[in-house]
Amino acid sequence: MTDLNTLESDVLAQVAGAADLSALDAVRVAAVGKTGSISGLLKTLGAMSPDERKERGAAINALRDRVQSAITEKKASLEAAELDARLARETLDLTLPGPYRRKGSVHPTMQVMDEMVSIFADMGFAVAEGPDIEDDFHNFTALNFPEKHPAREMHDTFFFEPKETGERMLLRTHTSPVQVRTMVSQKPPIRIIAPGRTYRCDSDATHTPMFHQVEGLVIDKGIHMGHLKWTLETFIARFFETDAVTTQFRPHHFPFTEPSAEMDVQCDRSGGEIKIGQGSSWLEILGCGMVHPNVLRACGIDPDEYQGFAFGMGVDRLGMLKYGMPDLRDMFASDSRWLAHYGFSGFAAPNPASGLS
Ligand code: PHE
Repeated sequence: MTDLNTLESDVLAQVAGAADLSALDAVRVAAVGKTGSISGLLKTLGAMSPDERKERGAAINALRDRVQSAITEKKASLEAAELDARLARETLDLTLPGPYRRKGSVHPTMQVMDEMVSIFADMGFAVAEGPDIEDDFHNFTALNFPEKHPAREMHDTFFFEPKETGERMLLRTHTSPVQVRTMVSQKPPIRIIAPGRTYRCDSDATHTPMFHQVEGLVIDKGIHMGHLKWTLETFIARFFETDAVTTQFRPHHFPFTEPSAEMDVQCDRSGGEIKIGQGSSWLEILGCGMVHPNVLRACGIDPDEYQGFAFGMGVDRLGMLKYGMPDLRDMFASDSRWLAHYGFSGFAAPNPASGLS
């Protein structure tokens, strides 16, 4: 009959000597696994007399429990040792500088807005502002959008839940409500631009749900389309820092201007990038026109005494054109690689003295 003491000291010696978790597991299987030495002893109990079985069974079970707990203990210590070794091997010095430290930069949209403000300021325009959350009156009604007119829907407006009064606030779909706010609060002559965020439920390579516009408004006596055309062409030439930009006016409709036009810039889209001043494509960059008499009246200005022109242009689109970005959506994706590539130095603030870009 197997000597239990010898077996126990043998197995315990093997447990103690196991160098790693897989060696320990092999010892476990050989001793207490299904066909292991200790499990084998239990199978011999069947052939014994009841008294013998009672005594021997208790002894074998006790042996198995001791071996089992020795294995558990050893396993815990091997695991701890393994973790210590791994921690030592994978030491990280968190105080070391990273391999890539990105400096912040000025977003192209902000740079382009500053460029625009700089050019228009030089042409005698003041900067006006209005809220992003607008009411129906300023965004539509005062701008001569008839009640229930489909043009209100054309703007893909983001509406808020109606208030108790039934009034629905909205995210402004254009910067034109700033025209209204300015005409209501200032007496002509007026010459302002209004840069800011605008919102429409739209997304593709040349549309994002949030985008930026610069609105322009001039109100004075004797203002006509010629002033509008000169202002925009002068702006475009200065903005692109060249005379080679070709533009075209297309007749269009806006409820708040009459006549109305859209202006496109000639560009080339063939190489996956947009290049201006060449090519056979046109990119629409702004809407414009002579301020509608109804809008002047809604703002308390006599259309027989004063006339004016207005324009609204897409800042992000002009940035795409000037700096060769193929997709408008990348502008607001917050990809640090894109920002590192297209961002501007904080020291490169555009101004008429040192130039734009
Ligand atoms: N508000 C118009 C738009 O967003 C642009 C525009 C502004 C057109 C001023 C004419 C005059 O589409």
